[in-house]
Amino acid sequence: MKRRDFIKAAVGAAAVWPATVRAQTFPSRSITLIVPFAAGGPTDVLARILAEHMRGTLGQTVLIENVTGASGAIAGLRAARAAPDGYTLTIGHWGTHVLNGAVTSLQYDVLNDFEPVALVGNGPQLIIGKPKLPAKDLRELIGWLKDNPNKATAGTAGPGSGAHVAGVFFQNLTGTGFAFVPYRGAGPALNDLMAGQIDIMFDQATNSLPQVRGGTVKAYAVTSRTRLASAPDIPTVDEAGLPGLYIAYWHAVWAPKQTPADVIGTLNAAVRVALADPVVQRRFLELGQETPPPEKQTPAALKEHQAAEIEKWWPIVKAANIRAE
Ligand code: MLT
Repeated sequence: MKRRDFIKAAVGAAAVWPATVRAQTFPSRSITLIVPFAAGGPTDVLARILAEHMRGTLGQTVLIENVTGASGAIAGLRAARAAPDGYTLTIGHWGTHVLNGAVTSLQYDVLNDFEPVALVGNGPQLIIGKPKLPAKDLRELIGWLKDNPNKATAGTAGPGSGAHVAGVFFQNLTGTGFAFVPYRGAGPALNDLMAGQIDIMFDQATNSLPQVRGGTVKAYAVTSRTRLASAPDIPTVDEAGLPGLYIAYWHAVWAPKQTPADVIGTLNAAVRVALADPVVQRRFLELGQETPPPEKQTPAALKEHQAAEIEKWWPIVKAANIRAE
């Protein structure tokens, strides 16, 4: 090889060397997956299923860290400011990575301060009530709320969260009024609903389905066009008398902005291996989660989906004058 060609080859090799070595050695220690809500809630449950599977693929523990508060914005800031090395990730959803950007002034950008890793799942909400609520179906629930204006309470995962936003849409559609009670996540809110401390919730099916099956909460409707395969007895909002209140509550994983592409590739592959596992798919189905098709599991597809959701929901949420402050 001529000297000039040798130098050229050596420079080229040096340029790719760090990424190659990193790709071969990443991850060399445990990874932290930040969950923006309380343990035991829907995001936490999905995170733990995923983390357990990713551990097997990556050969490193994926630790769950619940960082609660401000409807997920405390966790969002922490994840956005973490070292962009792939060792700190966050799981989030329609609330944290779309709504939060519209309902409050954040110190980070929900779209541009993260590298997308992968879309994880998509599930609707259930409109649920405490066991002793007299209403037997959604029409009766609306009637009861109208007969008791501003007396009922609805638990949420914080001001401006998906549960709050869905509740405001419900109030606007039905002409009802009730108070919102914020919690550090849907898990503790559901505990209070079962105990009769609050009356209703617009809750992710993933959170409340086990209790609906156990008969400890009442389910009035699912916020989707079709019934859930895993809970076919629950009517859709269209069937139950509130047409069009569709809420699709998708979850995804992100890394801090500027996490190297090869690291994102490794993490994305580990999520995809989990989503392709029939055991994970069955568990997700039981929890009312739809697994995205493979072409929607790429980082680029997540970025596109999130941007489209922001474009769709920010004007709606702003027009409804929903603020977290
Ligand atoms: C949670 O895990 O508590 C939820 O994802 C909160 C929510 O419904 O936004």
